[in-house]
Amino acid sequence: MNGPSVEPCDFTVFGGTGDLALRKLLPALYLRDRDGQLPDEFRIIGVSRAEVDDEGYRALVKDALVEHVAAEELDPTITERLLGRLLHVTLDVEDVTAWHSLHDRLKDGAAGEEVIRVFYLAVAPALFGPICEHLDQLGLATDRSRVVLEKPIGTDLASAETINEAVGRVFDESHIFRIDHYLGKESVQNLLVTRFANTFLEPLWNSHWVDHVQITVSESLGVGDRGSYYDRSGALRDMVQNHLLQLLCLVAMEPPTYVDRETVRDEKLKVLQALRPMTPELLERDAVAGQYAAGLCSGAAAPSYADEIGHESHTETFVALKTEVQNWRWAGVPFYLRTGKRMSERVSEIVVVFKEPPHAMFPHSEGATEPNRLHIRVQPDDGMRLHMTAKEPGPGGIRLRPVSLDLSYAAAFGGRSPDAYERLLMDVVRGNTTLFMRRDEVEAAWAWVAPILDHWARPTHRPRRYPAGTNGPVAAVTLLERDGRSWQETE
Ligand code: BG6
Repeated sequence: MNGPSVEPCDFTVFGGTGDLALRKLLPALYLRDRDGQLPDEFRIIGVSRAEVDDEGYRALVKDALVEHVAAEELDPTITERLLGRLLHVTLDVEDVTAWHSLHDRLKDGAAGEEVIRVFYLAVAPALFGPICEHLDQLGLATDRSRVVLEKPIGTDLASAETINEAVGRVFDESHIFRIDHYLGKESVQNLLVTRFANTFLEPLWNSHWVDHVQITVSESLGVGDRGSYYDRSGALRDMVQNHLLQLLCLVAMEPPTYVDRETVRDEKLKVLQALRPMTPELLERDAVAGQYAAGLCSGAAAPSYADEIGHESHTETFVALKTEVQNWRWAGVPFYLRTGKRMSERVSEIVVVFKEPPHAMFPHSEGATEPNRLHIRVQPDDGMRLHMTAKEPGPGGIRLRPVSLDLSYAAAFGGRSPDAYERLLMDVVRGNTTLFMRRDEVEAAWAWVAPILDHWARPTHRPRRYPAGTNGPVAAVTLLERDGRSWQETE
């Protein structure tokens, strides 16, 4: 898991004391440091409004590492080395006069002007534009600077365009890293490899052989303390516009010529542009919004969404959609997407369901025949399972039985599977944008969800209730049953 060391860098995190920084970014940097990828001249500068000095920040980060890095991965010497890289700058980014403190700290680094500067914006998207402007005015946005934008990039197409314009006035597109952490997951990258480094799937990967595709990202947790953000966002903006559509792109895209930054993103963009537009008629039929009511999760009582956030709301915590990629390869193949909070379990899976054999050769055999299915498990226990039909051993006729070929990546490769952020943060320092979303991709995804957002913003719209700990509202089941299909629940 060791990669080559990256170049000297000042890695600045706006929102440096926030949840994302403490839970994900700093643990990821610790693990990269542990594996020898950070050179001596790699500083991490936390920027926040918190009145803490460097020592106070180090103490905060130390606690976060203990909480969020597995005990067997934590080494006291490396922890001290990482803490020694940390600085904190107290800054209210809206206070123009306060910015000199950040400027001064960045200018006094040992690596000088040649240092790579990363500005990671783990703050509200409304601040992306103003922060970039300040960086520009202070001369900190140079050819060796990169800016990282955490999702959500806006709340709709218009706000995303405004943000992209503002950031684009300062940084060239090749220096803008729009993060979708699903693209950093090992299993998601492996989807590209499975499809394009093997030959056996490609001839089958089209409407001739594929009956339909299901993409599920279910979570067992509720919204927790993110209620104020989530209630303004909802599952469509929080998960579908980015993570689920990115998974769909990787399943449906054409083989890119190379795995490089532009060709992969070009192919994903074509998929987004080929998605069947959601008309009001289709929305009534093919889109389901849900919200969890009180229920039982893992044997314990779980509150309703309204109780969790403290007021009634019409925000959806569950989405199920049927769509189609309208191109030569996929015409007529439904893609069913589903995501929700407080569902029965945490699992992300893509299931490709193949067509029935064209001719029933074993009409009188006992036992079930089922269509072939390829389950691509994104998390947890990433791997792949191919469901097939086999003959049950024994004389006296032919009895068919479903069996599966299982590939578990943990069993095949052993070791720890790195967190998505570890890979993505190093790609930022290296300047590799392949696994980040390009402006046109983000905007195409917003354009596709726009009619759904509008439809669900109507005052009469009500998400359907589902008990916490279940797999969503009944309407999501009906969405497939109507087509003679059913969701492939995990076994
Ligand atoms: C984030 C969403 O982008 O992804 C969260 O904002 C969600 O609401 C999370 O819980 C899921 O990520 P993962 O990696 O745990 O599947």
